[in-house]
Amino acid sequence: MTASAPAPRILVFAGSARQGSFNKRLARLAAGRLEALGGQPTFVDLGDYPMPLYHGDLEAEQGLPDNALALRRLLAEHDGLLIASPEYNGFITPLLKNTIDWLTRPHQGESGLKLFQGKYAAVVSASPGGLGGIRSLALVRQLLGNIGVTVLPDQLAVAKAGEAFDDGQLASDAQREKLDAICQRLIETLARLGT
Ligand SMILES: Cc1cc2nc3c(=O)[nH]c(=O)nc-3n(C[C@H](O)[C@H](O)[C@H](O)COP(=O)(O)O)c2cc1C
Repeated sequence: MTASAPAPRILVFAGSARQGSFNKRLARLAAGRLEALGGQPTFVDLGDYPMPLYHGDLEAEQGLPDNALALRRLLAEHDGLLIASPEYNGFITPLLKNTIDWLTRPHQGESGLKLFQGKYAAVVSASPGGLGGIRSLALVRQLLGNIGVTVLPDQLAVAKAGEAFDDGQLASDAQREKLDAICQRLIETLARLGT
């Protein structure tokens, strides 16, 4: 990155609103690493942006929820995304899907999809299980690809999440290095593209 290039802005969130969420912990960690490596991350807790389950009649009657509009404004201010995706029954969570569904809807003649198109993202996951939520990563990649986001190939799935964190950090050197490599690659990609 040149001295004059602004640091890429990256919106970071997890697909869980749970207070003790491992994925929020991983997302917060990633935000810290993005900042240390020269990016400008913003961590958002989706628990602070509750929205009803998407329903076409609700949308027709009331438009987009205020929290969807607030998240859209944030999205517009950022160049890239880093998402920590929990796995429910081998899938992404309803919270993540519902949030993205609301965000992609048109509002006052503005396409929600436009907010995503051309953006770059990295994805990570954490689970108490042995696979670390890796099956959700294939699906979050598919979802993001469908809405025009390019997802970087590197990813991290933190298995046995109950034991994987030590004093707020990842206990494993290999996982710490992997997270750094992902963050670095996202920052470099965004900087190179000048987004
Ligand atoms: C409905 C449901 C289904 C789940 N299915 C899976 C699964 O398929 N694979 C997995 O690794 N963990 C599964 N889990 C366990 C979650 O990984 C675990 O609850 C995790 O802590 C959720 O992420 P969070 O800590 O970020 O909230 C499931 C949990 C729930 C509630």
